[in-house]
Amino acid sequence: MIHMGKSQELYQKAKKLIPGGTQLLSKRPEMFLPDLWPAYYSKAKGCEIWDLDDIKYFDMVTMGIGACILGYADDDVNFAVKKAVDNGNMCLLNAPEEVELAEVLCNLHPWASMVRYTRSGGEAMAVAVRIARAFTQKDIVLFCGYHGWHDWYLAANLGKETALDGHLLPGLEPRGVPRALTGTAYPFIYNDIEGFLRLIKQHAGRVGVVVLETIRNQPPTPEFLATLRAVTQKNGIVFVVDEITAGWRMNLGGSHLLYDVKPDIAVFGKAMGNGYPMGAIIGTSEVMSAAQESFISSTYWTERIGPVAALATIKKLQNRSVPAHLCDIGKRIQEGWRQISKGHQLGINISGILPLGHFSFDHAQPLVLKTLFTQEMLTRGFLASTVFYASLAHSYEVVDQYLNTADEVFGFIAKAVATGQPEKHLKSSVCHAGFRRLA
Ligand SMILES: Cc1ncc(COP(=O)(O)O)c(C=O)c1O
Repeated sequence: MIHMGKSQELYQKAKKLIPGGTQLLSKRPEMFLPDLWPAYYSKAKGCEIWDLDDIKYFDMVTMGIGACILGYADDDVNFAVKKAVDNGNMCLLNAPEEVELAEVLCNLHPWASMVRYTRSGGEAMAVAVRIARAFTQKDIVLFCGYHGWHDWYLAANLGKETALDGHLLPGLEPRGVPRALTGTAYPFIYNDIEGFLRLIKQHAGRVGVVVLETIRNQPPTPEFLATLRAVTQKNGIVFVVDEITAGWRMNLGGSHLLYDVKPDIAVFGKAMGNGYPMGAIIGTSEVMSAAQESFISSTYWTERIGPVAALATIKKLQNRSVPAHLCDIGKRIQEGWRQISKGHQLGINISGILPLGHFSFDHAQPLVLKTLFTQEMLTRGFLASTVFYASLAHSYEVVDQYLNTADEVFGFIAKAVATGQPEKHLKSSVCHAGFRRLA
């Protein structure tokens, strides 16, 4: 049974104390099941989460929004982190693990030879763009995909408020971003070579940076990446790949390694620390040296837990062949969705790379069906939505249990659809699709 437990009660209080309720749009209950989602946790281990009423669920959504690739509270990473805590995680002097991690990252990415660190993805991207602009001394950024909340990125919505729609999160409001940044960032569409070349021509001589996620929803065409690399090289533009979400899941390191493309900068975050904050900007020494010509500096970028957690995570990713497991589990899930939807004649569109799959309902009220799916999975002990990020903690048994339950729930939804009024089966308001002010 779903009930409005302690977690939802706390969320109602939070909305009065914290504007927007949470610190991350993707953790808002409104994105799932607005009035009934168990917003807070008391404990998380493996792929299981306990809410404030001590009710246990399997996480079949994003495992900490993509951060916990090994599973929650991983024993090996925690062992390393606890040692760092006992030996002092912050100090006047620097953590030697910064240097060890830099060597590990450069060995995995032989085209790179220098590294800087942050503690979150968005700020790592802001650092990358700052370094790139410092190097080229040109302001305009052409980008594709989602890259965080900072001014350089949201500036794209100053010109055309829907410019960022289609780049993962629709409706991102740029209020508070200086109007003077209008015309400094322009989006292009993934795999659209013509569109990209048009922008290069339109802003000839003024583009300093090209940014994209190597892969997310669909694989790059070989011509697309080759064109981007050739054009950036020819025009002295810094080419940045954002590996914050795609990195470490299909292979050890950045997904660009799979496509034989050598960028100038690659940026990592999320999974690299398995839940402990860590971000890295790696690049060629030529471009990275520009970091010395711009003031880029922050106290907590020097603490010790981040690099210690990253070293332990990378070691385990390698020793346990984690990317292969993630692809295997992700494939089973995507094939499962396909079969189940066919069985119940409920049309869905599946996309995403194997470890980061998602689907949408092919129906006039897709968000109603999505909310119904979350609602009915929740009553059966699963935190679920239309997205699934695989982790090492997802075993075949958990996947089987999830797919059997999803089969039952698709049956329920098919019957609700057949009544012509699926919304009547909702016990909550409908989930949000993107960024929106909360009441
Ligand atoms: C590709 C990409 N870049 C940047 C970010 C921003 O990272 P963070 O939320 O850690 O600031 C995200 C987060 O979802 C992302 O997926």
